[in-house]
Amino acid sequence: MKPPENSPTPPFPIQLNTIHIGDALTYLPLLPDNSIQAIVADPPYFRVLNEPWDNQWQTFNDYLQWTLSWLNQAMRALRSDGLLFLFGQIGKREHGFLHVLSAATQLWKFHDLIIWDRVVGYNERRDSLTPAYELILLLRKNKPKFHKHALRIPYDPSTIARYLRDKRYKNPQARAAHLAAGKFATNILRIPSLKGSSREKCGHPTQKPLALIQALLLLATDPNDIVLDPFLGSGTTALAARNLGRFWLGFEIHPPYAQLALSRLNNSQPQSKFAHQNNLHFSPFPINLNPLQKT
Ligand SMILES: C[S@@+](CC[C@H](N)C(=O)[O-])C[C@H]1O[C@@H](n2cnc3c(N)ncnc32)[C@H](O)[C@@H]1O
Repeated sequence: MKPPENSPTPPFPIQLNTIHIGDALTYLPLLPDNSIQAIVADPPYFRVLNEPWDNQWQTFNDYLQWTLSWLNQAMRALRSDGLLFLFGQIGKREHGFLHVLSAATQLWKFHDLIIWDRVVGYNERRDSLTPAYELILLLRKNKPKFHKHALRIPYDPSTIARYLRDKRYKNPQARAAHLAAGKFATNILRIPSLKGSSREKCGHPTQKPLALIQALLLLATDPNDIVLDPFLGSGTTALAARNLGRFWLGFEIHPPYAQLALSRLNNSQPQSKFAHQNNLHFSPFPINLNPLQKT
């Protein structure tokens, strides 16, 4: 790992390692073209949750147009070897994300669709199987940086012993090294979602597990790369990036969530000595929450 220890934040039009309070659509246009290595976006889902920020749009088409406009800015700012991770959640019958998948992949290049297996079911319903996954669409520009080796799942000792006895492998040393490192992760990432009682849970209704976001960043970035989360929520992406020695940038429209993220960052021991300083920056622009328009 390249040590970013003591590395100064690079000159950038928006302050890095900072939570910027305000509308993502205000800040995204300020980002230079091809400047961000990875974008982790967990936006509102459209009427899946009973939260004001998930019910801001009158129609699904309004939501889709909004999605495509922020995605357009985000994809412009993404480096040509970067990846954008877009989270999508399907509600009880709400399936807006399926249309987002279709529209976005007609406009930008599809890289992959990860299933995040939440392990624990949610949104229980009587007439269907219990939902247990969320989707993460990966969009690319050109050939992305991708560290497949970064995510390995350990083999159990009996499997290792069985494979090592297998005479078909011509290079036993290479085989042993692979077995010791573990098998490559599949595009079904099985990481438990946060239960209410989880120590990690900090008060945001859709807080993502730190382990999941760290896994995505390990795959798509190196130390010192710049990571953006345009919908920062409780700051999971900022914390993951800080733990891994990446620069980060977060936008959050709701000031109490920005404060929550800041406290979380301040109260978490940096897991690496490469932690950078965190800042909370109040937007010079007026902070407007779109009025709640629930139908
Ligand atoms: C799904 S949550 C993100 C949760 C986050 N991944 C976490 O782990 O805590 C979406 C967040 O986007 C924020 N938000 C909604 N509209 C926004 C906008 N136009 N610009 C910036 N943030 C917005 C909401 O306040 C909410 O905190």
